[in-house]
Amino acid sequence: MIQAVIFDLDGVIVDTAHYHFIAWRRLAKELGIHFTEQENEQLKGVSRMRSLEIILELGNLRLSQEEMERLAEKKNQWFVDYINAMKPGEIFPGVKELIQDIRANGIKVALASSSKNAHTVLDLLNIGGLFDAIVDGTMITHTKPDPEIFLLAANKLNIPPPQCLVFEDAEAGVEAAVAAGMKCIGVGSPQQLSKANVVVPKTVDFDINRIKII
Ligand code: G6P
Ligand code: MG
Repeated sequence: MIQAVIFDLDGVIVDTAHYHFIAWRRLAKELGIHFTEQENEQLKGVSRMRSLEIILELGNLRLSQEEMERLAEKKNQWFVDYINAMKPGEIFPGVKELIQDIRANGIKVALASSSKNAHTVLDLLNIGGLFDAIVDGTMITHTKPDPEIFLLAANKLNIPPPQCLVFEDAEAGVEAAVAAGMKCIGVGSPQQLSKANVVVPKTVDFDINRIKII
């Protein structure tokens, strides 16, 4: 029986996944690398540095550690500029109510995002108070697909992993949830997220009553 629900942030609660994509595409363009939305799927859920490495691999480019750090910082500055222009209304419609509904059913709720900007996004949307525990990219050593982030969230909630249900839009995130021994709702395309227990087009498409039969 599910006792806790763990939400990813970017692409599950709000469309910041798109802001990550356009910031990376802008950087790739500057480097002369063609970067598509399809290729961007590999970046979802992984760390900032790993994302940059993937882009450089796509362009067969090798750079020094120092240069990579400068580029990752540049992309982050663009991303921060994009999200600072965001309004609380940009949360996906119905997601706040879904989280409130889950809590009203006596189920704990956590956030587990690989992003080091997670707190900024939560503050901008004014939803930080909805979570019993928050784990972000500053608190982990290994990013998704490693299960560390979800195991840490479960630990903070004091709920065993098999009783946790994860919402994820990233392939790496679904893999991490499965590796943590948790159930997973994939948000997006069934082809991309085939390892999830259930896939829904949008987070709000998940019917809370199904939680009992997952
Ligand atoms: C999330 C997103 C990734 C992003 C990562 C790091 O997992 O899905 O696309 O690269 O966080 O985000 P940050 O804000 O720390 O650069
Ligand atoms: Mg995501």
